[in-house]
Amino acid sequence: MRKLLVTGGAGFIGSNFIQYLLGRKQEIELLVNLDLLTYAGNLENLKSVEHDPRYCFIQGDIRNRALVRKLFDEYGFDTVVHFAAESHVDRSIVEPELFLTTNIVGTQTLLDVAKNYWKIHPEDKYSREYRPGVIYLQVSTDEVYGALGRNGMFTETTPLAPNSPYSASKASADLIVRAYHETYGLPVNITRCSNNYGSYQFPEKLIPLMIHNALYDKPLPVYGDGMQIRDWLHVKDHCAGIVAVLEKGEVGEVYNIGGNNEKANLEIVRQILKELGKPDSLITHVQDRPGHDRRYAIDNTKITTHLGWKPSYTFEQGMAETIRWYLDNLDWVEHVTSGEYQKYYRKMYLLDT
Ligand SMILES: NC(=O)c1ccc[n+]([C@@H]2O[C@H](COP(=O)([O-])OP(=O)(O)OC[C@H]3O[C@@H](n4cnc5c(N)ncnc54)[C@H](O)[C@@H]3O)[C@@H](O)[C@H]2O)c1
Repeated sequence: MRKLLVTGGAGFIGSNFIQYLLGRKQEIELLVNLDLLTYAGNLENLKSVEHDPRYCFIQGDIRNRALVRKLFDEYGFDTVVHFAAESHVDRSIVEPELFLTTNIVGTQTLLDVAKNYWKIHPEDKYSREYRPGVIYLQVSTDEVYGALGRNGMFTETTPLAPNSPYSASKASADLIVRAYHETYGLPVNITRCSNNYGSYQFPEKLIPLMIHNALYDKPLPVYGDGMQIRDWLHVKDHCAGIVAVLEKGEVGEVYNIGGNNEKANLEIVRQILKELGKPDSLITHVQDRPGHDRRYAIDNTKITTHLGWKPSYTFEQGMAETIRWYLDNLDWVEHVTSGEYQKYYRKMYLLDT
């Protein structure tokens, strides 16, 4: 029976993960979702589990050491799955400091509290003995590897070469996780996943943004030539990959998670327009963002061969399901795109100039 601390569980992937886990895994005794509820966190995402007796929500900041320590004391976690982060590259370009404190200091706070709580002899700095079965899983991203040229793929041994403040903060966090494993023997795993799509994604990210605009016949802002290539994975396949690592991963290892599904942004935008029966003339090319990586691609050989995970969705099936979800949940889209979002949107795509 596992007792989990999930951070950032009100965000896109975290909320999908909580629903996935509580829906499939009976051996979960307790799951506490610690989330600050920034603009990206939304408790509406978790309506289906809010009455599950195993589930508990705490609004709070991962950088609040006293709070994190109190939660460990109160609930006795044996597992941490750390999603909470500032996650949007565009925002990191205008507000890098927030990314450093949340993504780096927040991660170090969690690691430190987990180490002190799980260590059998916390006062002995040479001891590397921990309570049996404990694990800290860091949810990271393929963006830590930087950009690829036309060929090649990221493997787990590709050197880290992040290009944006967001990816640099995630790479820094990964290195701190590694250091806690090497220095203190803390049982950890890191997963590095490619771009996710699916339900509950905040409409600042490519796919929900384009669906939202197309639905209302608004221009679809495409950065530069739109030929930036990403390796897309359905969020439920990402969740299944994380569970595979929790259940079968070798302690201390990094696992890439990707769907072998490279698509250019423009191709995706055209597919959305086609599915919604809207004209390509809605596409509007806007100035590219600084430091925009051209291509990411994940080599998923390690997780597929060592842990037996593989993606279950084809992109066509996943996209059709995702578009249907946004059409069926227009209320959700309306709520999250009101107020502050409108200001942000105009600023990002230079619509006020
Ligand atoms: N979205 C992707 O395609 C993708 C791909 C690979 C990896 N990741 C990683 O997965 C994780 C989740 O990504 P997402 O897309 O769901 O992000 P998201 O922005 O949708 O959600 C982030 C959540 O973290 C919470 N949060 C932010 N700061 C916090 C703090 N200080 N304390 C507590 N909670 C805080 C927010 O309220 C929100 O609920 C991130 O670590 C991200 O780097 C994302």
